Amino acid sequence: MKAIAVVPGTTTVRLVDRAEPQVTAPDDVKVKVLRVGICGTDREEAAGGRALLPEGQPDLVIGHEMLGQVVETGAAVTRVKAGDCAVFTVRRGCGRCLPCRMNRPDMCATGDYRERGIWGLDGYQAEFAVDKERYVVRVPPELEPVGVLAEPLSVAEKAIDEAVRVQAARLPDSGATPDWLHGRRCLVAGLGPIGLLAATALRRRGAEVYGLDVVDAGTARPRWLETIGGHYVDGRQVKPDKIDDTVGPVEIIIEATGVALLEFDLIDALGRNGVYVLTGIPGGSRPVDIPGADLIRRLVLENQAMVGSVNASRDHFQMAVDDLGYAMLHWRDLVVGLITHRHAHTDFAAALASHPADEIKSVIEWGGAAEGTR
Ligand code: BGC
Repeated sequence: MKAIAVVPGTTTVRLVDRAEPQVTAPDDVKVKVLRVGICGTDREEAAGGRALLPEGQPDLVIGHEMLGQVVETGAAVTRVKAGDCAVFTVRRGCGRCLPCRMNRPDMCATGDYRERGIWGLDGYQAEFAVDKERYVVRVPPELEPVGVLAEPLSVAEKAIDEAVRVQAARLPDSGATPDWLHGRRCLVAGLGPIGLLAATALRRRGAEVYGLDVVDAGTARPRWLETIGGHYVDGRQVKPDKIDDTVGPVEIIIEATGVALLEFDLIDALGRNGVYVLTGIPGGSRPVDIPGADLIRRLVLENQAMVGSVNASRDHFQMAVDDLGYAMLHWRDLVVGLITHRHAHTDFAAALASHPADEIKSVIEWGGAAEGTR
């Protein structure tokens, strides 16, 4: 079968032939890949950045944001059946630590995990994929057009889940407000796919959402945010230290920019007792200048929590699929419109290199629409 592979540490990206994976165990699920999203991580891999070669292989098949249609299952599989749309999660555990044994490799304690398409395991930019039932989430047929967004949304779901759990553990009044996000002022920094999807999940839970970016108000992404009931903050006009003066104290920040200096500066926007979850992974190693003493003083004197969050569990993928269902019911055209660019697999070089200004999510189409879903 055809697949798109990189040679880690180089800028070589090529179309390769791989043996078609087969169902060999009772808990195996085989899917025909329909489409696979491209994100900053894929582009970094293609540019010679962070990626790990699978043992004994000359290259790594990329792609971790997938949607497939099940074509075959092992005898013990009950979560999905042939014909279902489905997504596979990304990380595979070390098999030794307790989180991994609990199917929470996103919290692997040893660091010896692997990630499909990124770190030591072939990914999903290929015609077929096989994996274990414990890594699969069924996607209802009506979500086929947007199921490929489940992975980036799962990252946002985990970040929001972490914010809520941290606050529930430390705020004495949290038990009195089970619907805790309702009416809370949240700032989403960076209105790429993860930011816009985080805003969607927060709006669904009744939060007051402000979205920060550096594009003109009235362009696609700010308008998108406003249509779901969020408010746009132009970071070129409102500096991080003025965000609270403009919108009021922020209780939760979900960061998805990957810009190290901004990631630090945003501490200034966080209100008293607030929680700040970072998901952006800055590239490069250029040092940044920060007012360290001021920032630490604030964190301590204002009881603030800062948490890094990466990857997502299968439960977060399930939450993502559920939220995509809600979003399709309320904002169908908007959600479908998040996929702005579609490429044939042979067009991989352009898809990975170009980053058009109007891009929200680019995908590689492997199989077109799933049979029987449209
Ligand atoms: C992926 C995550 C992954 C992280 C680090 C992100 O782009 O969405 O699944 O854990 O990169 O490799």
